[in-house]
Amino acid sequence: MESVGTLPQVRHDPVSDSRFLRACRRESVDATPIWLMRQAGRYMPEYRALRERYGILDLIKPPELACEVTLQPINAFDLDAAIIFADILPPLEGMGLSLEFVRGEGPLIHNPVRTTADIEQLRTPSPEEALPFTLEAIRLTRAELEPRGIPLIGFSGAPFTLACYAVEGGASRHQATVKRLMMSEPAGWDMLMTKLSTVAGNYLLAQARAGAHALQLFDSWCGELSPADYANYVLPYTRRTIEIAKAGGVPIILFGVGAGGLLERMATAGPDVIGVDWRITLEDAASIIGAPTPLQGNLDPAVLLSDLASVRRRSEQIIAEGRSLPGHIFNLGHGIYPETPLENVEALVQTDKEARPVLAS
Ligand code: CP3
Repeated sequence: MESVGTLPQVRHDPVSDSRFLRACRRESVDATPIWLMRQAGRYMPEYRALRERYGILDLIKPPELACEVTLQPINAFDLDAAIIFADILPPLEGMGLSLEFVRGEGPLIHNPVRTTADIEQLRTPSPEEALPFTLEAIRLTRAELEPRGIPLIGFSGAPFTLACYAVEGGASRHQATVKRLMMSEPAGWDMLMTKLSTVAGNYLLAQARAGAHALQLFDSWCGELSPADYANYVLPYTRRTIEIAKAGGVPIILFGVGAGGLLERMATAGPDVIGVDWRITLEDAASIIGAPTPLQGNLDPAVLLSDLASVRRRSEQIIAEGRSLPGHIFNLGHGIYPETPLENVEALVQTDKEARPVLAS
């Protein structure tokens, strides 16, 4: 037995002390942490080689393959966080929807939700039952990353974005069908969004318990909503998702696309970090949010299609802007494009690393 009075052992935990997690907690960092949305993907030859042999869901479901793909960008670039290779849509399969990724066309739901009767049929299975493969992939990948001191991000679609795919049945320009349901069927909408927030919240929590060091909630379509509709029909369910996930004890990032007009409301959902795209400056986003919340973003992914000098200049501008904020995690404002040249990604990551040190705040 340890004797009383022994000094507590100070354990150095490189992952907990990583730039990414320090920035999430608003602690000072030696360089701005950087990771890229969709960093595992078609711009990488290693990924394309696997995709010649496997469909997207066939890459996501076997934990060993999901782990391998997650590590591809980590092995290629000096990134500060990994994001588990998965997708926002598989949780809909467990709810009873039939999902297919059609080559070259994106996702397709064969039996979209259109009526209150459809919504009543939706199941809310536990993530352990419906998504054991991603939880296992997280366990495997965390074990690979831990010795390298790199944190692993888990994620889920936010309830509204999941509702968009569940109701529209696939890509949709204006989200008109889901908006019609939202505006005209309040009881059905509440049931749908309650079920989706249960599934998303429990999924995030399970990912934290499987070893994810941080969680990101993707609300890719919330920017289509008016602020009042967002506040009435979406925010309560995003907040509920975050409340469930908070029990996991890891930082939660809430990311919206085109959501500059919603930021003040998004902040009240309780995230630790807010992700923004390039349609708003980091400074404007910070002043709208008011409370000292770290921001993630916000390079236009199209910049990575341009020349090296532009990549360096534009990323330096964002890093400089981020230094005046309570915390900044460099990222793109949305997923990286498949046409992105590798040397531009390399230049971006190098620019970030050379721009140190960041002054302690
Ligand atoms: O590296 C990472 O960021 C982790 C993996 C990841 C994927 N999807 C893999 C994927 C993440 C975080 C996602 C999130 C996701 N999926 C979102 C939210 C972010 C966003 O982009 O707004 C959404 C809306 C989806 C749904 C989805 N998945 C669509 C619309 C498509 C088809 C369009 C496309 O980009 O091809 C996917 C397929 C998908 N998910 C790919 C990847 C790497 C491309 C599939 C391929 O290899 O062909």
